[in-house]
Amino acid sequence: MEAFKVIGNGPLKGEVRVPGAKNSVLKLMAAAIMAEGKTTLTNVPDILDVEIMAELLRRLGCEVTHETKTSTVTITVPKVIGHKADYDLVRKMRASISVLGPLVARCGEADIAMPGGDAIGSRGLDIHMQGLEKLGCHVHSEHGYLIVRAENGLAGANIALDFPSVGATENVVMAAVLAKGNSTIDNVAREPEIVDLCQMLVAMGAKIKGIGTSVLEIIGVPKLNPTNHNVVPDRIVAGTWAIAAIMTQGDITIHGVKPSDMELVLEKLRDTGAEIKSVEDRLNVSMNKKPKAVDIVTLPYPGFPTDLQPQMIALNSIAEGSAMVTENLFEARFRFVNELARLGADGKINGHHCLVKGKNKLSGAPVEATDVRAGASLVLAGLVADEVTYVTEVHHVDRGYDNFVENLTNLGAKVERVNI
Ligand code: EPU
Repeated sequence: MEAFKVIGNGPLKGEVRVPGAKNSVLKLMAAAIMAEGKTTLTNVPDILDVEIMAELLRRLGCEVTHETKTSTVTITVPKVIGHKADYDLVRKMRASISVLGPLVARCGEADIAMPGGDAIGSRGLDIHMQGLEKLGCHVHSEHGYLIVRAENGLAGANIALDFPSVGATENVVMAAVLAKGNSTIDNVAREPEIVDLCQMLVAMGAKIKGIGTSVLEIIGVPKLNPTNHNVVPDRIVAGTWAIAAIMTQGDITIHGVKPSDMELVLEKLRDTGAEIKSVEDRLNVSMNKKPKAVDIVTLPYPGFPTDLQPQMIALNSIAEGSAMVTENLFEARFRFVNELARLGADGKINGHHCLVKGKNKLSGAPVEATDVRAGASLVLAGLVADEVTYVTEVHHVDRGYDNFVENLTNLGAKVERVNI
């Protein structure tokens, strides 16, 4: 079994570069299938999920290359593509569901294996389906597949999403840009990754107004063209490095960041007592004392991101004082707290609240990564625990963090990938 062996050894110091966002690039790759020809994506992270999405697109008939040295993916889309995403890929990566909107838009049909729940929650698809039905799709399930058909093509509609779901917004927007007529989509998610997707769609010829707001107005076009697009920086990876600097009382300069996408996160991190300077695409985060505990409440953007919630619990577990962490997106994300408790952390869960009491010190132990963010957070906790922490199920971390061990080592951490 592969594990990360982490030895707590003081402050992290140095420079690190953040790649493009996992939660954007996967959707941009899906969007590429809406245009025949070659789309090129740059600033692509070297992570497992990109490989899984590449495999999915290949099975649909696309040619996909991933050049890790130049962080570039090219997707060459043929005139006719397949319309089925099988369970073996969807179960590996839930984001496979993002080909749904593009496939119905392009082929008028899609058969996607149902992803089911996962380690962080039940994760419904009802909002995706309601939006697609409004655009003229018929949806039913059969033998574990969602069968989506638009026999008479897609037609623009007025849609109000029940909740600003990231995935539902993306699927409905991608379907609407190729629908006949106009659509208004209300209560959409406004995450920077959605803005990135809309900007790429516009470059492909889509007509979208209101990008970055909660109402999108779309004028359907008959066809999109391939494009070149640079993926927006990963604000979650950037936040993880910032939290690592604060927890270890270190000093890290993070390159390739878009600080304007991280305003609330940076405000909360400043509340810990850290000094944070941002200049253009660089963030410098330094800390010379024990951090202060800070309350957070996760919410859709511009609220505090759920994808930085476990890292903040790790930070609060060694902070001065106590903090209340409220999770509003994924009910099972607190599973991580039980793993952190193995390192001596004190987190009391009550429904979707977790009261974290700062401890003077954590103590190294074997722990299991329950998902990508939990895995990264356990490594951060291991960095400030005494002796050795082994984090298992590290494939979760490989899904979302490129060169994680190498980057940590460059910053002075004692971390290695080992077989145990
Ligand atoms: N929801 C429904 N019905 C739906 C859609 C969503 O009930 O039809 C619920 C979900 O169960 C959840 C909430 O709405 O409770 C939010 O889900 P959302 O659809 O916004 O999330 P997602 O698209 O499934 C993406 C990211 C997640 C990130 C969330 C929230 C990708 C591939 N995943 O998931 O990233 O936490 O948005 O920002 O983009 C991660 O990177 O670690 C990760 C989990």
